[in-house]
Parts: sequence; C-alpha cells; structure tokens
Amino acid sequence: MKKIAIFPGDGIGPEIVDAARMVLDAVDQAAGLNLQCTDGLVGGAALDAADDPLPEASLQLAMAADAVILGAVGGPRWDGLPPAKRPEQGLLRLRKNLDLFANLRPAQIFPQLLSASPLRPELVRDVDILVVRELTGDIYFGQPRAAELVDGKRRAYNTMVYDEDEIRRIAHVAFKAAQGRRKQLCSVDKANVLETTRLWREVVTELAAEYPDVQLTHMYVDNAAMQLIRAPAQFDVLLTGNMFGDILSDEASQLTGSIGMLPSASLGEGRGMYEPIHGSAPDIAGQDKANPLATILSVAMMLRHSLGNEAWAQRVEKAVQKVLDEGLRTADIAAAGEAVVGTRAMGHAVVKALQL
Ligand code: IPM
Ligand code: MN
Repeated sequence: MKKIAIFPGDGIGPEIVDAARMVLDAVDQAAGLNLQCTDGLVGGAALDAADDPLPEASLQLAMAADAVILGAVGGPRWDGLPPAKRPEQGLLRLRKNLDLFANLRPAQIFPQLLSASPLRPELVRDVDILVVRELTGDIYFGQPRAAELVDGKRRAYNTMVYDEDEIRRIAHVAFKAAQGRRKQLCSVDKANVLETTRLWREVVTELAAEYPDVQLTHMYVDNAAMQLIRAPAQFDVLLTGNMFGDILSDEASQLTGSIGMLPSASLGEGRGMYEPIHGSAPDIAGQDKANPLATILSVAMMLRHSLGNEAWAQRVEKAVQKVLDEGLRTADIAAAGEAVVGTRAMGHAVVKALQL
C-alpha cells in the first residue's frame, strides 16, 4: 500500500487534479497498486479554511505520504495579503519542509503539436530538454530578506545564497540525469557578475571528474535565455539554480506550444511531489477549459519516480500521445478553427486510451 496526498489548490487546480485523479484511479485498479489517496488543503484554499497557506494538518499529510500530487496555487483574491500569507508560501513551505531540492522539468516536443509552438517547426522539431532546477535554496529562501522603511523611504532586499553542499547535491542529480540521456549537461549561471554563481560553476566543474562520460558546458543565464529561442535543440540537460530555473523552464515550455503540457517532479531523499509547471489560471477557473495533460503527465512521473513503476508511467505517457494523435485538443493547444474539448473530456479520453 502506498499513500498519496493530493492538494488540488486554487483556480484550475481542482479541475486538472480531478482529471488526473481519473487516470490515477484507473491505473490503480488495473495495476493493483492499492493506493490510499487523501486530499488536503494548500494555498488560497487553505487560507480560506484555516487562515494559513499550509496548515499543520496539510504538512503532516504530506510528510506521511509516499508521494504528493499538487494542482496549482494562487489567485487575485489573495494577492493583497502579507508575504507570509500568500498562497505561494504554502507551496514553497511544502518544498522546503519535504526537502524537495531537485525539480525535474522535461520540455519535450509533441510532434502532434508542432504547429502550436510560436517558433518555426524546424527549430523545435528535435527539442527534448530536461531542466534540473534546484528548488530549496537561492534567492527564494536566502536570509536576510525584508521590505522596510528607512528614513521614510521604502526599500526591500533578498539574498541570493548557495553553499557548496546544496550545489553538489543538485549537480549530482543533473549529471546522473544526463548519463541516462544524451550525456550533455549545460550548467547555467551568471558567473561574470555574481559570487553565488561563481561558486556554482566551480563546484559543478569539480564534479565533472566523476562523470567522464558526460560533456559539461557552462552558459550565462542571459545567453541561455537567448539560445533557448535561437537554437533550442542544442540542449539536453540544463542545470539551474532556483530562480534561473523558474524563468528558463517557463520559457522552455513555450517551445512545446503550451505550458499546459509540462509536468514536473520535485524530489528529495524520500518522497516526491508532482505538479504541472503552470499556475492556477484564475481567468479560466471553473469553466472546464483547462488542459489537464500536464497534471496527467505528472502522474506518470509519480509512477516512475515514487512508485517505481516505469511500465505504467510509459502507458500513461503513451495514452497522452494517443489522445493527441486522435486530435483531441483543449483550447490552449488547438490551432485556429480546430474543435476543442474540455478538461473532463480530456481526462476521460486519456483513461479510454489506456485501453484497460
Ligand atoms: C513554479 C511557480 C512557483 C515558483 C511559484 C508559484 C511560487 O512559478 O513552480 O514555477 O516560483 O517556483
Ligand atoms: Mn514558475
């Protein structure tokens, strides 16, 4: 028996999670996984219910689970709240408390969606990138941080900080991921300006000796942002800190046509958390319009990384390919004039495509 904690969150979160849940339930039954799924509150939903974006009960639920599925957090309703009470804090505290330091964000081209990319097909056809983003350090969590009033003038600051152990453990993940792929690792930094990332480059370079089969390169983050548009197929594994990875993974998602297609896995020593990389899309929430495929593909990643079930992970991924082959499109991935299906219908179609 494995315990799964499910946090639907805010905005489109509950809808995409329900579609993913249909797929997970179907796999659970067919494969006899004997999953025990329990829902919890995080983000704005938790603020509304318990005045805390990550109530103690939610943290305990996640800690007791083998894996966590999360929809999305945030929305305009909670935007005015003080920093500690923003919905995003629920997600960040989950990542930090569970020590989920390694965030894997694959950006793969679905050939069926080539025309949905804003870039020319010949540029993106061969794109298959894995962003390995450090997730529990950097300017996201660095101390000191504050917004204050000094002599009647507002000022605010954050601290970008990494120690060598933090860099080493995420770099190991990236090197190993590269070994299982095309053996090319590009580490992203701003070593021409920032001490933090000079250390980053130093430590990553030291580790390269342990992975002689991997070809390591380094790239400044501004250049990486440009190269992702200019020649994205050159990248295999991209290793980044927390902040640069946040930005570059959104950019990479656009190569594939829609951010609605990109799953993620956040891993530590033990349990993992699985979420789409997109946000809560409050503008389309509750309308059965959202694309659930990123969340469904996150379930596949959970089967692979937390449940040790590569065979079923692949079956779910193939089912997603099949519905795309069949021409099913949510609004975000539909070409002009193409028929559009809703969130629920897309979930049902994937279950059907599993051919159980
Ligand atoms: C992401 C999101 C989060 C982040 C937000 C919601 C805190 O943008 O998962 O990429 O910045 O990490
Ligand atoms: Mn982001």
